[in-house]
Amino acid sequence: MTTSEHSTDLDTRYGSDTRTVTLRVNGRGVTREVATRTTLADFLRDDLDLVSVHLGCEHGVCGCCTVLLDGGSVRSCLMLAVQAGGQEVETVESLSPDQDRLHPIQQAFAEEQGLQCGFCTPAMALRAREILADGKEWTDEEVRQEISGILCRCTGYQNIINAVQNAGRKLRGGPGAARDETKGS
Ligand code: FES
Ligand code: FES
Repeated sequence: MTTSEHSTDLDTRYGSDTRTVTLRVNGRGVTREVATRTTLADFLRDDLDLVSVHLGCEHGVCGCCTVLLDGGSVRSCLMLAVQAGGQEVETVESLSPDQDRLHPIQQAFAEEQGLQCGFCTPAMALRAREILADGKEWTDEEVRQEISGILCRCTGYQNIINAVQNAGRKLRGGPGAARDETKGS
């Protein structure tokens, strides 16, 4: 089946209603006409080319499609794009200030080998951003709980926990700490 045949098939089964949605994505205002059935994940990937939003199970189990919505993590496969109207969406592309510099969270994942195939990594990095936002120090066990909604099929959880803890130290400051340049001073 071609893409257009597939789209026509979906239109037949689910209708072809569209709506205009306006939101902010990675700090940029976006207005698009979207089919009301379009998930936020598909909108981010297909309409905005933000392909760091990874689709694993597509029914709310794996967490790999996690993005931040007004600072809180959501599974973008379970939301419609139109439901995000008026809100701020962040994907992992928002983290680094430019292509040549890593965000402290990305730096920490690299230093701690907190990724293997990388499929879960955008979701893990965004979840880390969320839980580290208020500067709290977490125990390893608490970090394990906080990231437990995202499945890593490479089973590298300890290195991911180490990466979150490393990122927390960087963001809280101290010797050699990197600054989060995506936040105001
Ligand atoms: S792809 Fe959304 S939870 Fe698995
Ligand atoms: S690094 Fe492969 S799924 Fe997590």
